[in-house]
Amino acid sequence: MTPFSADEVLARCDVLAGISAATDGIERAYLTPEHARANWTVGEWMDAAGLDAWQDAAGNQRGTLAGPTADAPILLLGSHLDTVPGAGRYDGILGTLLAIAVVGRLRARGVELPFGLEVIGFADEEGTRFGRTLLGSCAVAGTWQESWWGLRDAHGTTVRDAFIAFGLDPARVGDASLRGQSIVGYLEAHIEQGPLLQDADRALGVVEGIMGARRFELQMTGEAGHAGGMPYGRRRDALLGASEVVTAVEALARDAGAIGTVGRLHAYPGAMNVIPGRVEFSLDLRAETDALRDRVWREIEEAALKAAASRNLAFDVHELHAARATHVAAPLAAAVEAGIRASGDAAPMRLLSKAGHDAMAIADLCDYAMLFIRCKDGVSHHRDESVRADDVALALDAFEATVLAVADAHDRAHD
Ligand code: GLV
Ligand code: MN
Ligand code: MN
Repeated sequence: MTPFSADEVLARCDVLAGISAATDGIERAYLTPEHARANWTVGEWMDAAGLDAWQDAAGNQRGTLAGPTADAPILLLGSHLDTVPGAGRYDGILGTLLAIAVVGRLRARGVELPFGLEVIGFADEEGTRFGRTLLGSCAVAGTWQESWWGLRDAHGTTVRDAFIAFGLDPARVGDASLRGQSIVGYLEAHIEQGPLLQDADRALGVVEGIMGARRFELQMTGEAGHAGGMPYGRRRDALLGASEVVTAVEALARDAGAIGTVGRLHAYPGAMNVIPGRVEFSLDLRAETDALRDRVWREIEEAALKAAASRNLAFDVHELHAARATHVAAPLAAAVEAGIRASGDAAPMRLLSKAGHDAMAIADLCDYAMLFIRCKDGVSHHRDESVRADDVALALDAFEATVLAVADAHDRAHD
């Protein structure tokens, strides 16, 4: 297989798909044995591309290529290596492996850049294990929060204990931060996770920005009781209250042009012949602007309180995550556009990302831009995630040309 080719990138996606906690699908969560194995494997590929591979103090897998001088700035490239449960093989993974291949190609051609490069395989974009997303990229951006040490996974293990079990020192998490360093920007390639490129018959697109998101853990509490004996008029059925919220989420978000999803719901005690006394459920809410997202949340909260009052239930809210809507930096996006043009598309399509990305966290550190790659039917967070090999080849050309365009712009600015 040709080194640093699209075929090699796709074969490596297949290798990582085999590093999974589940035998019937792909699942690779933060600070797990699978995370360690994926980092080790990707570290080998980084070394082969000429990068110095290392794992940082938050568990991100990083590879560094020194710049022309000791004080040269760095350009960051990357995406994430963790997955949701039942994942596909390209979300995050493809972008990380494309970045490594781009470095390998540039090195093989002897290209000298005016900056150093750092490829980062972020360790926790999805938030699958601890509920709070973007932990890896927040550590790099220097925005790690002390309160996160106490977050617990489904087994009650805290982030702090998981760090220690993984061999990381919680006291050193600040060492992962790039704050204070001279950074040119951050570039991320990612599958679109939506159908717009396919519908427009485009392989690649320029991202304009990323929707802001909030995530909540919600709870309705009523009273468990006998499914036969308890008359309707006396029931305090928490699942009926939660169900009203679930349908209100769709109606209110949809009407407002936002996106709301209840992806998890557990009814307790969870028996066929017991009225549900308590329901825990999640809410993922996204919109193009933070103001719109926050307005829709207030409407959902109002609807939930109304449903709770009418059924004599208590409604509780715990917010797990909030990320502001961000916009790409125009000069870096222009480089992505030039990169796509160099790959053969004369008028690249621009689109907003509805999915979250590490770039949202890195936006607190430096400018960013993103390149989207078409995925089949927009399917993602699903085992059937699929990309075309010819699109991946174009993405590799475009990503490499983007780095060269950033280098040209940097040279022009510093001449
Ligand atoms: C990340 O994949 C997200 O939830 O948008
Ligand atoms: Mn994802
Ligand atoms: Mn992703």
